[in-house]
Amino acid sequence: MKSNKSLIEAVSKVIEVNVLGDERGLLTVIEENITIPFEIKRIFYIYGTQNNVRRGFHGHYKTRQALITVAGSCKVHLDNLQRKEEVLLNSPHKVLILEPNDWHEMYDFSSDCVLLVLASHHYDPEDYIRDYKLFEEAYSSC
Ligand code: TYD
Repeated sequence: MKSNKSLIEAVSKVIEVNVLGDERGLLTVIEENITIPFEIKRIFYIYGTQNNVRRGFHGHYKTRQALITVAGSCKVHLDNLQRKEEVLLNSPHKVLILEPNDWHEMYDFSSDCVLLVLASHHYDPEDYIRDYKLFEEAYSSC
């Protein structure tokens, strides 16, 4: 069974990033290995999600992610078997650094929500753990 003990000490967390503003408006910069603790291999964004939809329902073996609501808001349920937590993302300068060992579910999307995700690895279905029992097996002994 694949596991990722080298990253297991990392804990998902919300960080506040800088807002550069002047009379023209606001600008936020995110740089790999500076603002967020990994190289960015992939970017995707989730939008047009119905308010009653819950998505995600997986953990990863390797992929680290940074989640930012560049517009609107949503909530993220996190579960790393040690703790369960609900995070509200409602600001473009709030970034959730999501470690691979956190089972995550996103919900309560506002109609204008654009959830930007920066990922440390290319898309690989094999890096997904979509069965909660397998997720527990992969991470419970870590
Ligand atoms: P999915 O993982 O189900 O989204 P979520 O975890 O938010 O519920 O992804 C939806 C579809 O998009 C699924 O068919 C896989 C595909 N997909 C890619 O092809 N590449 C990617 O980088 C991602 C994130 C998803």
